[in-house]
Amino acid sequence: MSTIAVLTSGGDSPGMNTAVTAIARNAARLNMSLLGIDRGFNGLLGKNPEHDFIHLTMDNLLDIADQAGTHLRTARCLDFLKKDVQANAVKLLRQMDVTGVIVIGGDGSFKGAQALCENGMPCIGIPGTIDNDLSYTSMTLGYDTAVNVCVDAVRAIRATSRSHDRPHVVEVMGRHCGDIALMTATATGSEIVICPEAGRWTVQDIAKRLQSHIDRGNFRSTIVVAEGAWEKMRPFDLYKFLTPYGKEVFKGEPMTAYRFASVMKRLCKMPDGTFPEVRHTVVGYTQRGARPSARDAAFATEAGIMAVELLKGGVSNRVIGRQKGVVFHEDIDKAMHARRRFNRKLYDTLNSL
Ligand code: F6P
Repeated sequence: MSTIAVLTSGGDSPGMNTAVTAIARNAARLNMSLLGIDRGFNGLLGKNPEHDFIHLTMDNLLDIADQAGTHLRTARCLDFLKKDVQANAVKLLRQMDVTGVIVIGGDGSFKGAQALCENGMPCIGIPGTIDNDLSYTSMTLGYDTAVNVCVDAVRAIRATSRSHDRPHVVEVMGRHCGDIALMTATATGSEIVICPEAGRWTVQDIAKRLQSHIDRGNFRSTIVVAEGAWEKMRPFDLYKFLTPYGKEVFKGEPMTAYRFASVMKRLCKMPDGTFPEVRHTVVGYTQRGARPSARDAAFATEAGIMAVELLKGGVSNRVIGRQKGVVFHEDIDKAMHARRRFNRKLYDTLNSL
């Protein structure tokens, strides 16, 4: 009976547990045994092998399939960037009779998978990150769930914004990728969206747009901001110029949703000459800690099944993705070099409505 291993790495994402369950079910069907590695690549550092490798069976896995978070736990392991650490990890895996590893995570985790392959350990990657920032696939585990969480949040915010005639700034996650923000804004009919891919922007640009909505009688605009867009604001620490005291408070600090809402308030005017009451919400980790949506769970199951089949067939160095509804696998090096796509046309159109 051959043994394979699975780990989850980087930020947790809804669907990771579903994928691990599918891996366990298919491994059992194909008469392979499965080890779960605790806390991502940390579990391969050899510090505590008795605890870092967990035998995964139907008994301890069937109930986790639709749960949030990752049962195997996760980490961002900087030590794993070191060549000697990578070589030792492969030695450790061989001592445990492991013949292949499935890595579930984002681009940093895929770099770890590449390192394992380079050291002779067959590896398959499953894209697990809410950010959707892996260009070779149209979907990563957790992205759809995160968007659904954000859409629910924005719908609720828009309801209370309408009741009070208040504009609202909503910050969503995604690191340097604006996909969560763009999809959320599109699905909710939000008036303004700011994504890092669109490049530099200023508070004056946005204030002008917000003012044009106020002038048209819409006092409850939603401004959806991808967290990575704060770094693209110019100058990035403009906040200091806009305090009512004229002082350089927060000098050198970046913009935040809270600060941005107060700046928007000061730069815009309601028809009666008063400031609009601009509020803010940071959706935050609720995006990562949700139970997987049907789309994410279905992709996780298909990806888990495929990963085991690939290892069983002696295939390595591949990552799994989904395009136009079809689950496929791709060479890991090629996948990591795929060009980023951003729907600029949709972005510009939304912002011009
Ligand atoms: O990569 C997933 C992600 O949730 C990003 O959207 C976010 O910027 C980051 O992780 C947060 O990381 P941490 O869990 O280390 O705070």
